[in-house]
Amino acid sequence: TPAYDYLIVGSGLFGATFARLATDAGKRCLIVERRPHIGGNCYTEKLEGINVHRYGAHIFHTSNRAVWAFVNRFAEFNNYINSPKAISGDRLYSLPFNMNTFYELWQTRTPQEARQKIASQRFTGEPTNLEEQALSLVGKDIYETLIRDYTRKQWGKDPRELPAFIIKRLPLRFTYDNNYFSDRYQGIPIGGYTALFDAMLEGIEVRLNVDYFAHRTPLGRLARKVVYTGCIDQYFDYALGRLEYRSLEFDNAVLETDNFQGNAVINYCDTSEPFTRIIEHRHFEGSSSPLTVITREYPRPCSGDAIPYYPVNDAQNQGLYRRYQELAQGTENVIFGGRLSEYKYMDMHVVIESAMNRFRSESRQASA
Ligand code: FDA
Repeated sequence: TPAYDYLIVGSGLFGATFARLATDAGKRCLIVERRPHIGGNCYTEKLEGINVHRYGAHIFHTSNRAVWAFVNRFAEFNNYINSPKAISGDRLYSLPFNMNTFYELWQTRTPQEARQKIASQRFTGEPTNLEEQALSLVGKDIYETLIRDYTRKQWGKDPRELPAFIIKRLPLRFTYDNNYFSDRYQGIPIGGYTALFDAMLEGIEVRLNVDYFAHRTPLGRLARKVVYTGCIDQYFDYALGRLEYRSLEFDNAVLETDNFQGNAVINYCDTSEPFTRIIEHRHFEGSSSPLTVITREYPRPCSGDAIPYYPVNDAQNQGLYRRYQELAQGTENVIFGGRLSEYKYMDMHVVIESAMNRFRSESRQASA
């Protein structure tokens, strides 16, 4: 009989959640991770005494009590509230779009004034591209000041060449509320995400620097089932073609100040800078370091060894994904899960919930 019940490929949030739940239920798990560290894209590392979010800013938020209780088993969360700012031209604006933003744009003070202003600028036809879609949702000023050039940088294409579906909703909030998320629970794990993963994976065997594909057959023999959280097209040797992604490059700098920008996240919404955001990590948890660490975030094409970040969920890629999904459904003893296997942008709480559901249906099958 195999030594393990589950061979889990990937130590990100999906793999780690599944491994914890399975281990708690008395199953034997082995995790293999090709990176030199655990945590997937949530990974944080200490630099100058500050927990740096290596793969982009991660703010935990959820309204799901079971998910919140689960993560709180492994870390204490602080009361960080995400309130990003945006720079465009020589002005600074509040996000998400709310009464503060409207005041900064037009000096409107009441919801009624702001609603009128937006209504008078809306595109009223049937949107055929992203630009028209955004114009119909928020009108000309917000679009041109805060969306157009940011989107161009993010996707490397003119918004008129991008499909309307990329922006389904652009929430407008008619209160003076700069809290980006509207979930019940929100915060940053004190001590960083890596510490949270360390606690979550306690007592579970993890082999770092092991690429599943380099040892597929021998690793496969070790367990009854595989939980695969890597790219779904890679699992099938790209047999049907490659799924398209957008990548990011993170440029870190240590600066000799204890406060560079006064906020964790500032978006750069015009073309004067090629990056889309600057993250100042000390503001996530607070720090007494006399230095600060900032990260400039540059969107990039996803070619060669670039890390896939944002799936390009257009009709063509969705069609291709569905064909891979059919192959996955026909693959016995493999559970496909997580953002790369589902070819979907998912927030952390969504990934945890998805892993919980997959483990629950696994247990049900096993006991049936
Ligand atoms: P993840 O990519 O984290 O883990 C997969 C793991 O599998 C990786 O460690 C990889 O190395 C490993 N792997 C892949 N192939 C392998 C192979 N062949 N062999 C061995 N190992 C292999 N969410 C949120 O709630 N709040 C936020 O603020 C943010 N912010 C944010 C910023 C940016 C820039 C991005 C791109 C994403 C976010 N997210 C987020 C989303 C969050 O990052 C996401 O929900 C989780 O990282 C997904 O966890 P997974 O386990 O699915 O994938």
